[in-house]
Amino acid sequence: MPLATKVVAAAPAGHATPLLAVAIPEGGFPRSLEALDRQVGGTIARLVSSRDFTGEADQATVLYPSGPATRVALVGLGKGPVTRAAVRRAAAVAARLAQRQGVDRVSFHLAGEAAGLPPAEAVQVITEGLVAGAWRFLGMKRPPDDPKPELAAAEILVAEASDAVAEGHRVGEAVAAAHVVARDLQVLPGNVCTPTHLATTATDLGRRHGIPVTVLDRAALQQEGMNALLGVAQGSVQEPRLIVLEYRGADGPPVVLVGKGITFDSGGISIKPAERMEDMKFDMSGAAAVLGTFEMLGRLKPALHVVGLVPSAENMPSGTALKPGDVVKSHFGKTIEIVNTDAEGRLILADALSYARRFKPACALDAATLTGAVVIGLGHTAGAVLGTDADLVREVLAAGERAGERVWELPFWDEYRELNKSEIADVKNSGGRPAGTISAAWFLREFVEGFPWAHLDIAGTAYTDKETPASVKGPTAMGTRLFCEFLLARR
Ligand code: BES
Ligand code: MN
Ligand code: ZN
Repeated sequence: MPLATKVVAAAPAGHATPLLAVAIPEGGFPRSLEALDRQVGGTIARLVSSRDFTGEADQATVLYPSGPATRVALVGLGKGPVTRAAVRRAAAVAARLAQRQGVDRVSFHLAGEAAGLPPAEAVQVITEGLVAGAWRFLGMKRPPDDPKPELAAAEILVAEASDAVAEGHRVGEAVAAAHVVARDLQVLPGNVCTPTHLATTATDLGRRHGIPVTVLDRAALQQEGMNALLGVAQGSVQEPRLIVLEYRGADGPPVVLVGKGITFDSGGISIKPAERMEDMKFDMSGAAAVLGTFEMLGRLKPALHVVGLVPSAENMPSGTALKPGDVVKSHFGKTIEIVNTDAEGRLILADALSYARRFKPACALDAATLTGAVVIGLGHTAGAVLGTDADLVREVLAAGERAGERVWELPFWDEYRELNKSEIADVKNSGGRPAGTISAAWFLREFVEGFPWAHLDIAGTAYTDKETPASVKGPTAMGTRLFCEFLLARR
């Protein structure tokens, strides 16, 4: 059960709760905590003045006052100005701390002066952070003999209730739910989360929210001529799918969101090394971000027209698999020489981007765990963005900043196009190692026609093998909140 959150108009002092988390920025004692501090015998002021508690990001110190809160946790926000990302993160730290403490409820207060943010925005990102911090996946483990109480509820304390704050909470809950949908899908192993599983999940999601979902199976894909997607799938016993979701909250040309849905990437005949190959179950993270975003749309029902496209396949080596040197004819009509079967993501995305033309999109965004090169270039801190339209790229950069899912633009000059030139076909599917993220994006661009488009490479940020005070290891839902922020800003 995901964490239930609610807004409560209450001062932190005098609020009875098993754990009161108070977020404090670096550099001094916030005046709004004076009443609370008196209740704890001046301990907060002493912790701050002694610099035992500095307020640096992720810092957390627990006090045990004589009431009415059983515990008070000071949580650091880092150096000002206090950003959405800092507040979201502090809320996640608080939720994780509450889980470790074994309490079933946490109350979160953002110290007054810290709020450079409008209250509605603060409540939105606190909601997102609390739910994300509490997320974990225990579904495949035997339950422990002495289970801790589950953290089931969180309260967000505000100075006063208002319609704006209630709306901020509604948005925060929807974005948080989108994030949970994405992570719950990402975390599933490849033998469970297959292309058919993604399709069933999308169909169920659509049914819950009244969003029409169409699924193209192998026969329909053959009819359509999606031979690049079919080519990737032909080495696996898992059936490929193209999932099409259409949310119609408004008329007019849609925003199209495309997500790479490779449910396991072994590399195919160009097989990957064994080391950490298990992480390639996360190669459907772009798909998870798209499906998560539709959960947000279903909950908020904004005045937008959005189409989701999820091409999905498993990339395996076998006697029927694509081989290096093979040539396939794509849905767009261009022929592709397969020089590396491990460059499969761009093949399935090429057919999906070509399919997108029929919707006459206002614009299209895709998210994909596309290249190892983006990990070399940007590490695990930011995704890459490349696009055909400067305004669209700016919009994506801004959405990523608001979402706490940063992306950074890479150059997309014509010079890079040559890397994908083939001797035998219109284009080849790998430009080799130099500028690997850019040549992959250029490959996709060969199949984009008639609409502004931006591509997000999230290979370095979709999952993490580092636990932090704010998050467990594993899936991050990268791209989900970015898509949500992008869309909500277009309402
Ligand atoms: N799914 C991988 C990219 C990836 C790498 C995702 C690391 C997550 C973490 C993609 O399909 C791939 O294998 N890309 C190749 C392309 C190359 C063969 C041109 C790569 O980046 O090595
Ligand atoms: Mn691959
Ligand atoms: Zn892949």
